[in-house]
Amino acid sequence: MATKAKTVFYCTSCGNESPKWMGRCPACGEWNTMVEAPVESKKGPAAVSGRSAARPDRRPQRLREIDYSQEARISLGMGEVDRILGGGMVPGSLVLIGGEPGIGKSTLSLQIPLCCKDLRTLYVTGEESARQVGMRARRLGGDDSNCSIFCETLIGTVIEEARAMMPDLMIVDSVQTMYTDTVESAPGSVSQIKEVAAALLRFAKESGVPVILIGHITKDGYIAGPKILEHIVDVVLQFEGENRGSYRILRSIKNRFGSTAELAVFEMTGSGLREVPNPSEMLIPMHEQGLSGTAIAAMLDGTRPLLFEVQALVSSAVYGTAQRSATGFDTRRLNMLLAVLEKRAGFHLSAKDVFLNMAGGLRVSDPAVDLAVICAVLSSNFDFAIPSDVCFAGEVGLSGEIRPVGQIDRRVQEAARLGFKKIFVSSFAKVEVKPEGIRVIKVADVPALVKALFK
Ligand code: TYD
Ligand code: MG
Repeated sequence: MATKAKTVFYCTSCGNESPKWMGRCPACGEWNTMVEAPVESKKGPAAVSGRSAARPDRRPQRLREIDYSQEARISLGMGEVDRILGGGMVPGSLVLIGGEPGIGKSTLSLQIPLCCKDLRTLYVTGEESARQVGMRARRLGGDDSNCSIFCETLIGTVIEEARAMMPDLMIVDSVQTMYTDTVESAPGSVSQIKEVAAALLRFAKESGVPVILIGHITKDGYIAGPKILEHIVDVVLQFEGENRGSYRILRSIKNRFGSTAELAVFEMTGSGLREVPNPSEMLIPMHEQGLSGTAIAAMLDGTRPLLFEVQALVSSAVYGTAQRSATGFDTRRLNMLLAVLEKRAGFHLSAKDVFLNMAGGLRVSDPAVDLAVICAVLSSNFDFAIPSDVCFAGEVGLSGEIRPVGQIDRRVQEAARLGFKKIFVSSFAKVEVKPEGIRVIKVADVPALVKALFK
């Protein structure tokens, strides 16, 4: 009697597995993310249990007996990428670069072997022909590097080739086009993606070859996507930016070997991606006089201070209920700050529409941006321009107090370096540096700030 092929359901958001379909994933609470996939064949290498055949000598080791000597990191030739990874790539690690189609993932990963000519690289592509990759390499200004292009989509063959070549770096573009014949579903499905990533991880750990894996995310984040991959890989880098604009931001959202708070900025030019080592200079507008509705925030991304423009637009609400919308900033936090302005400083904004935008397509979560947000809102509300040589760094509390933020000295130094004349901080902040040309103005609460700024 023919038996029906067994299937299971996966959540595309968190990878949770369930024997039956559910409208809402019980693990992550997302709606409508369950997709059906055949049960994986137990003949594949994933089913190997117990002691691994490849490493029969594996035993628990004491911490102090562990050999750290091979932990030297591999430099990828692009300073900003190395910095994001925490100082280069760790041998045997699996790094996922995720992003929307067309954002520049293939360009970035091809530029790495072109920048670092002595790195023997195996570039596996399932999306383009060798000719296409070659033409792109020429356009990016170099085809004399030590990089081999391999057009293949069967992951077993890819790994076999990589074992034979033992490159210094392997790049796989992209996880959605690779497949394994141990699973029956189509390339790009959840079970294929999981198997391909697990196979690459095993290869990386056993051989010590670092692997960069590229993954597409769709606009709405659905489809069997890199979300479930995040659990498998060592490092997740997200490449984002507005497709129309030329700036791209690479941020680390998971890193087993470094900080996740780092961020790097690139510019897409006619000849590939260019690193922007001083993003503050690009994020700060060039207008001589300040415009109303803008304020400069001194935030910290990981270890690096970054100054950028916060823009607000406050207008009378057309409909009964006022609209609040924020791009790059948490809308709930915006609502909270507006409530503080209303309740603690007496500004009536409840009948006003408020739109907020972080310049350059940034997404911020540093609470130090609060102060610039309320200044931008007030500036737009009163149509009063804040002088362009003033910047802000402080968190706003629920009772309207301005709270100190971490690493204030670095923010003050960066503001001074960029030629700012005044920086507003909390009166509890301990500023120890005194850079030339900048005045540190301390304010205790929102009313004091308004008095100092808009008097
Ligand atoms: P690509 O790396 O193919 O994106 P992804 O792999 O993430 O899908 O990059 C696609 C875009 O980058 C494409 O629209 C053209 C642009 N681009 C440039 O502007 N300059 C260049 O030198 C290159 C190679 C691409
Ligand atoms: Mg691509």
